[in-house]
Amino acid sequence: MDAIQHAAQEQFQKQSHRYARGHILENTQDLSAALEGIAIPAGGEALDVATGAGHAAFCLARAGLRVTASDLTPAMLQRVREGAAERGLDIRTREHSAETLPYRDGTFDLVSCRVAPHHFSSPADFVRESARVLKAGGWFVVIDGTVPDDSPEAEAWLHQVEKLRDPSHNRLIPPREWHALCEQNGLVIRKLDVAFRKQPDLEWYFETAATSPENREQVRALIATATDEIRRQYRPGEEDGKIIWWWPMLTLVAQKVA
Ligand SMILES: C[S@@+](CC[C@H](N)C(=O)[O-])C[C@H]1O[C@@H](n2cnc3c(N)ncnc32)[C@H](O)[C@@H]1O
Repeated sequence: MDAIQHAAQEQFQKQSHRYARGHILENTQDLSAALEGIAIPAGGEALDVATGAGHAAFCLARAGLRVTASDLTPAMLQRVREGAAERGLDIRTREHSAETLPYRDGTFDLVSCRVAPHHFSSPADFVRESARVLKAGGWFVVIDGTVPDDSPEAEAWLHQVEKLRDPSHNRLIPPREWHALCEQNGLVIRKLDVAFRKQPDLEWYFETAATSPENREQVRALIATATDEIRRQYRPGEEDGKIIWWWPMLTLVAQKVA
């Protein structure tokens, strides 16, 4: 395991309970919407990478797919097994990184990954491996935070905020880079959207990552001193006494060329 993977594992091993019931990620409408119009045979094989507490995996299982939920953090996979049992869903779990997938070429009809690639030490390895384990015609679906393609200032600001909140954060990948990674690996883009989703409460955002008090202060200072460009991009503000902003979320749907 490299240092970035190790940091992510350490962080999520401590925080796994916060990602189960009641977490904002339990709402999987984003994934359901991404899957609309994709024809996968009933009983098709799906791999959910960096599954966390398994919310995306549960959504895929409810859609009739045979799901393998994978993650490099053992405590997270334990949450998946508990969550699957509670919901009466049959889901296999596998412990491995996103950068090295221990499956034969052409195993899966779908590889999904939601709100995790910004932790990966090598998004390039993740995309290459995903393309390899997909069947010809199979689908690659990624949902993750992103940054604008042409604003180094906005990219640096959000990166700093994320890193202070959770030091295991690595990098938010701009849409153009996702596009290039797919093209390099024989994945044809069918959809690439960026929609703004509300970060609903700065205190909640800190709590889920157990952010240190000093880092919380630094994030508050970054928000207080945000430039016009940052305000234009993320619209930080206050609602009902809570500090919010608007987060660019990328949805990518690509297909392995037959
Ligand atoms: C925010 S959670 C994922 C949420 C989940 N996908 C969902 O839709 O509910 C991030 C997960 O990424 C995992 N992770 C981070 N880096 C990883 C890597 N390089 N390989 C595999 N899993 C990783 C963490 O262990 C954690 O469980």
